[in-house]
Amino acid sequence: MRGFLLSALAVCASVVAQTSVDSYVATESPIAKQGILNNIGPNGSKSQGAKAGVVIASPSTTNPDYLFTWTRDSSLVFKALIDQFISGADTTLLGQIQNFVTSEQILQQVSNPSGTVSTGGLGEPHYNIDETAFTAAWGRPQRDGPALRATAMIEYANWLIKNTSVSNVVSNLWPIIKLDLDYVAADWNQTTFDLWEEVSSSSFFTTAVQHRSLREGAALATTLGQTSVVSNYITQAGNILCFLQSYWNPTGGYITANTGGGRSGKDANTALASIHTFDPAAGCDATTFQPCSDKALSSLKVYVDAFRSIYTINSGIASNAAVATGRYPEDSYMGGNPWYLATAAVAEQLYDALIVWKAQGSLNVTSISLPFFQQFLPSVAVGTYASSTSTFTTLTAAVKTFADGFIATNAKYTPSGGGLAEQYSRSNGAPVSAVDLTWSYAATITAFEARAGFASPGWGAAGLTVPTTCQTSGGGGGTGTGGSGTVAVTFNVMATTFFGENIYITGSVDSLQDWSTDTALILNPANYPIWSITVNVPASSDIQYKYIRKVNGVFESWESDPNNEFTSPSGGSFIVNDVWR
Ligand SMILES: *[C@@H]1O[C@H](CO)[C@@H](O)[C@H](O)[C@H]1NC(C)=O
Ligand SMILES: *[C@@H]1O[C@H](CO)[C@@H](O)[C@H](O)[C@H]1NC(C)=O
Ligand SMILES: *[C@@H]1O[C@H](CO)[C@@H](O)[C@H](O)[C@H]1NC(C)=O
Ligand SMILES: *[C@@H]1O[C@H](CO)[C@@H](O)[C@H](O)[C@H]1NC(C)=O
Repeated sequence: MRGFLLSALAVCASVVAQTSVDSYVATESPIAKQGILNNIGPNGSKSQGAKAGVVIASPSTTNPDYLFTWTRDSSLVFKALIDQFISGADTTLLGQIQNFVTSEQILQQVSNPSGTVSTGGLGEPHYNIDETAFTAAWGRPQRDGPALRATAMIEYANWLIKNTSVSNVVSNLWPIIKLDLDYVAADWNQTTFDLWEEVSSSSFFTTAVQHRSLREGAALATTLGQTSVVSNYITQAGNILCFLQSYWNPTGGYITANTGGGRSGKDANTALASIHTFDPAAGCDATTFQPCSDKALSSLKVYVDAFRSIYTINSGIASNAAVATGRYPEDSYMGGNPWYLATAAVAEQLYDALIVWKAQGSLNVTSISLPFFQQFLPSVAVGTYASSTSTFTTLTAAVKTFADGFIATNAKYTPSGGGLAEQYSRSNGAPVSAVDLTWSYAATITAFEARAGFASPGWGAAGLTVPTTCQTSGGGGGTGTGGSGTVAVTFNVMATTFFGENIYITGSVDSLQDWSTDTALILNPANYPIWSITVNVPASSDIQYKYIRKVNGVFESWESDPNNEFTSPSGGSFIVNDVWR
């Protein structure tokens, strides 16, 4: 009887919570949307002199001064607007989107302390709102910006292909997207400041969004007939996916946010990466850390739990209920408080998970995700639970309640009027730091949309395989770069094959088997349709080669003439990207 009463009370409490979240969603949605539009130049009511299409981070000009435009924030904000435009939720946004494209095209060309457009300038984190360079000291470069901008523009490009023509996109949008993708492909393996602009190392969010951008970029390039870049994008995406795995901390059960920084590594970075690389078609795949993957759920629990005891406003809340969360527990910026966008990201990851479980009609509990699910059902065991089981019903209802709790927490600390600052006080929940943070509004809107079951278009995350050895962007890393007088050359060739058919290489030097077809070297299809092999060849030499096909080891055909040819560099490593002829 007691058990019955308690569960009846729990149901009752969750209904109350849901109702209050429903009403917050209803009142806050238009406020958040207007909050975004107010912060876009030239006509946004709070954008104070920003050029057309420029997104200001916040109208705050002192303590802190955020009257600048960040590539990351702007791209995430416009991604949310492009989602609304493409889904038909708001068809009035086309002019704003075009303004955004124009302003980013201008900003790409602005020389700045990170470099020029062709020497690293695309990694500059932020600009003045009149589209001039910000030249004071800053944590630069930040290499997530170009990737996020490419992702926003690729979504728009895919709509434009349907709505107008391939040639329109090739002429107008592709040159902008290609600059960003070429930057990502060339520089992903360099250190970067993280999305909080504090730690210079490698950063999970940055790596994850870089991976995404190259996958969808390769697909777009193929659609547009821009085939010369495709194999390099796919090769580098494979290398990035390999590197991405290294952030997982198996003993801690969480994704470590940064390779440097000397912190726990528990960070909103990882939940943000999961929601911004969500692809419903990839199910609960853990190699891309999908929102419902066992690794991302385990990581989410560890991250959320890191804030239970450090914020006064979280005290007295049950250990399996939602709390306010911040960037990372060691944070001290502006007092180190909860952030609206971090707390909303937790909810969004959970809503994304619910979308997939409902679509798949089942939910898996693995040894990795067991602690996450045990929060809601201590007796749950590792296994697969179909939607017809009571375990599925219990867990999905509990996850929904848990997710709504994060929205309810933000709601509780949203001041009357609905304005969203950057943070709210860890001790009393009052708004702290920059007012009207554009990203707070965008994060609120995307969480609400996920709650309503909306997922933006996927990006090709389904069915990816992780290369067996992680290569650096130069191609030779991890496997050595050869002895004296040689250079490690990675040969990538895009070739579709049928089962039993393989791609081999043979060429003009000993290490390429002196044109023998019998002893030609077989390439690795880990990034199919890209086949790869790294071979040490003589430095500073003319090298000629061809690919051949064999079926079950038996010679089938040569590539057409002429021979492929290049001059090897004097040292280091080198990549050639080919398409089978
Ligand atoms: C801004 O508002 C002015 C005045 O209404 C209008 O003429 C102009 O087209 C608007 N600019 C943009 C980029 O929307
Ligand atoms: C493209 O979209 C615009 C704006 O939504 C619409 O007016 C136009 O009819 C569309 N054109 C095509 C070819 O779909
Ligand atoms: C470059 O890639 C290699 C191979 O994955 C990795 O070990 C290394 O940490 C990466 N460095 C940076 C700065 O991304
Ligand atoms: C559950 O695991 C099975 C087997 O690994 C997999 O085929 C299925 O897609 C998974 N389902 C979900 C929802 O993760």
